[in-house]
Amino acid sequence: MQFRPTSILVTGGAGFIGSNFINCFMSRNPGCRVTNLDILTYAGNLENLRGVDKNPDYRFVRGDICDAPLIAALLVEEKIDAVVHFAAESHVDRSITGPEIFVKTNVLGTQVLLEECRKYWQGSTVPDFRYLQISTDEVYGSLGDTGFFTEDTPLAPNSPYSASKTGADLLVRAYHETYGMPTLNTRCSNNYGPFHFPEKLIPLMISNIVNKKPLPVYGDGLNVRDWLHVKDHSIAVETVLKGGKPGAVYNIGGNNEWKNIDIVHLVCDLMDGSLGRPQGDSRSLITFVKDRPGHDRRYAIDAAKIRRDLNWEPSYTFESGIRETIAWYLDNQEWVAHVTSGEYQKYYDTQYGTH
Ligand code: NAD
Ligand code: DAU
Repeated sequence: MQFRPTSILVTGGAGFIGSNFINCFMSRNPGCRVTNLDILTYAGNLENLRGVDKNPDYRFVRGDICDAPLIAALLVEEKIDAVVHFAAESHVDRSITGPEIFVKTNVLGTQVLLEECRKYWQGSTVPDFRYLQISTDEVYGSLGDTGFFTEDTPLAPNSPYSASKTGADLLVRAYHETYGMPTLNTRCSNNYGPFHFPEKLIPLMISNIVNKKPLPVYGDGLNVRDWLHVKDHSIAVETVLKGGKPGAVYNIGGNNEWKNIDIVHLVCDLMDGSLGRPQGDSRSLITFVKDRPGHDRRYAIDAAKIRRDLNWEPSYTFESGIRETIAWYLDNQEWVAHVTSGEYQKYYDTQYGTH
């Protein structure tokens, strides 16, 4: 029997993946209530949720996952029967220059959320409950030229970001083992698609190409990432939420490995076509820069378990997904301009009033 959530708490739902998840989930699950708890750091953008914010089943709450009384109140008020925890500090480069906030948000925030969920679930009147932790393939560390991460690969994080995500995963495991809490854990590879904040590789390259700015490629550009469209990730998360076995971990990925330099070349060439520039024009902007310290060489996800046990398959080919993503950024230059100017941070006040 599938689990059928009726009222879900999404944390970090104004970020890149959380907002795509809410847009996708609400269109596929009419009648299910969605409460979005997000503190709106620099990465939170309510403009990503235009449209859905008019849905009477949607509620936005600006708040911190470290705020235990707030979480306790929301769980009860909204009769939450599932928590999908996206909220995090997510950018590896920022974790290298400022790790503290990563530990606070990703480790402590997850513990606070778990603890409030445990108390609520143990005393709850909701018939069933799930807690889903959104993790990352980065918890497994780095691969050599061959092999894949499976769910049994030992955890070996290399950056402060991935170490903090690993700490969170271990707490989730502990809450299942110690209290029997019905937790789920997903570990996905690199996402791409609409609403991706332009500090990450693909949207940064798109934005810099539009503005004819240098395209910084770290090190030799031969590091490998495994890319999945954010809508495929969103549907995978929904699939795990409804069908996953409590206590289990599921890898998510689309068998789509690319060397960074090859992605940058592809984006350059497609954009030269879209912008009517001579082929090769954008490639001339590529600038090799100092490598990221501790830069993981290769990620590659073995997603056989979710495919086999839950019948999930990605629907995008990379070819179609990257073309659609480039078209989205070119069609949504206002969104990009608001992010660049900081205008997006005013959207909360215009919609919800100044507090
Ligand atoms: P993001 O940085 O775009 O969004 C994070 C969101 O969390 C923002 O809206 C931010 O305001 C919110 N947030 C941060 N601190 C908070 C706090 N204390 N309380 C409430 N909200 C807070 O991140 P993303 O790329 O959308 O990633 C979402 C999740 O998916 C993260 O947990 C990340 O580790 C994981 N993940 C990301 C990728 C990827 O490629 N981006 C891949 C695999 C897993
Ligand atoms: O693998 C999943 C992870 O993917 C998520 O857990 C993280 O939250 C998410 O940010 C992403 O991490 P990466 O470090 O892989 O993503 P990023 O876009 O920062 O970098 C992708 C690759 O491109 C990486 O090898 C570093 C390189 N890079 C990145 C930037 C921003 C460059 O060469 N130049 C750049 O300017």
